[in-house]
Amino acid sequence: MSTFSSTAAERDFKRGFLKIVFILFGVLLICFSIFFVNNHENNKYIIETLEVNGSAEDGDALFKMNCVGCHGITARGLVGPDLHSITKRLNDKQIIKQVTGGLTPPMPSFEIDPVNMSNLLKYLHSLE
Ligand code: HEC
Repeated sequence: MSTFSSTAAERDFKRGFLKIVFILFGVLLICFSIFFVNNHENNKYIIETLEVNGSAEDGDALFKMNCVGCHGITARGLVGPDLHSITKRLNDKQIIKQVTGGLTPPMPSFEIDPVNMSNLLKYLHSLE
């Protein structure tokens, strides 16, 4: 009798344990899938942006509409930092991440299509 009940308890324990391992594995799998899909989308966006040959003039207009409140009308800095020679400190990929990522509040993340992002990059490159 006692042997029987102890094996039953053992079996329950094993089942419980397997269930937890199974669930953890599932959760992990979902996390990885989301990460890879996101990463893939981001890379696609960056590649598309870098393929466009943007216009500094259009970028200037875009900058005046979205960025001057914080970076100043001549991009010399206000709440946000001076952006002259930013392209010497950050590469294009890093700038794209800065503008679209929203990782450094109070700067918001901008949803901006590849063509306009490329225009902005051209404008930032035109600042000495
Ligand atoms: C609400 C204010 C705000 C707006 C609007 C804003 N920024 Fe910023 N930006 C900041 C702040 C603050 C930082 C500094 C973040 C930090 O690193 O702590 C920053 C940092 C940056 C940097 C990195 C500078 C560096 O020295 O590393 C770039 C590039 C930049 N902004 C570009 C832009 C562009 C382009 C726009 C418009 C599309 C924009 N920002 C709009 C506030 C703003």
